Amino acid sequence: MRVAVIPGDGIGKEVIAQAVKVLKAVSNKYNFSINFKEALLGGAAIDVTGVPLPNETIEICKNSDGILLGAVGGPKWDKLPGNIRPEAGLLGIRKELGVFANLRPAILFSELKVASNLKEEVLGDGLNIMIVRELIGGAYFGEKKRIGDKAWDTIAYSVPEIERVTVKAFEIARKRAGKLTLVDKANVLESSRLWREVVNRIAEDFKDVQLSYMYVDNAAMQLIRDPKQFDVILTENMFGDILSDEASMLTGSLGMLPSASLGEGNVGLYEPIHGSAPDIAGQDKANPIAAIMSAAMMLRYSFNNEEAANDIEKAVARVIERGYRSLDIMEAKMKVVGTEEMGNLIANEVSKFQIFKKI
Ligand code: IPM
Ligand code: MG
Repeated sequence: MRVAVIPGDGIGKEVIAQAVKVLKAVSNKYNFSINFKEALLGGAAIDVTGVPLPNETIEICKNSDGILLGAVGGPKWDKLPGNIRPEAGLLGIRKELGVFANLRPAILFSELKVASNLKEEVLGDGLNIMIVRELIGGAYFGEKKRIGDKAWDTIAYSVPEIERVTVKAFEIARKRAGKLTLVDKANVLESSRLWREVVNRIAEDFKDVQLSYMYVDNAAMQLIRDPKQFDVILTENMFGDILSDEASMLTGSLGMLPSASLGEGNVGLYEPIHGSAPDIAGQDKANPIAAIMSAAMMLRYSFNNEEAANDIEKAVARVIERGYRSLDIMEAKMKVVGTEEMGNLIANEVSKFQIFKKI
């Protein structure tokens, strides 16, 4: 297995080191080898090469089976023009790899109910929402310009762009609770009306999935009012960016949410949904769980190794059960641990199952 490792900036470096550690533990256990290759992206790449997405990084990614990415960005590069900011590197690599479907699962661990901002009765017996965000179209990639005192961005989508991510979302919904909600702004935006038409047509092939529509403003409210009504949410790039941050807080912290970005083949890009958090970078304070869970998603989606993916997820659950918490999910009577120690605990837990298995 060839894995490209892109730590990026800020806490990206710290959390990715933990994810790599856990991947090594799981590969030892199952006796497969992973060939890790590091690549530069974002501010780290700008500092060395002058651009946020060097060609060498594209090469390394395209010659890998899975890509594990931390986060990009920071105040140091905030004044650069848009096209050479760290974020342009992130958008660029997603585009280069053609990963149009970004899967962002929001799952609440029962022990973390207290960390969630919602009341216990709203959370019920837990939460499990999958946001499928279109990742390489819409406003983030449409024509943008600035002329004098005017500036604009464009939300543009073609039928094939909507089709491919919609099929993925239906397939995912079919394997889950069988409910898909298209979130859009079809009462105002023409691109949203096209989304509805296309999704409606594709629904004919997925009669076993219950399809509903919701305007994005209402969806933002419903996620807080009654998140349990959702199973799979399908939405365009910008709405998905916003709603996935919102959904992460339902699960206790932005530091808990992993993501997988998939295209036509098996090669995928795996990254925590949180950013580079410059305010806590380099202090061993970041929660590595989102990055570690992203590594689990890589094993599942790019390497078809469900067993190893489950092991990592179980190890995370177990460490939380045992009362260990990173700062972002800390609560009274729990044991607070730093980034590094959280990684060690999870890696050890992964290896532990092996001992039980052998006995
Ligand atoms: C995310 C991030 C990125 C995005 C930024 C850093 C460009 O917010 O992955 O959600 O908007 O996609
Ligand atoms: Mg975001």
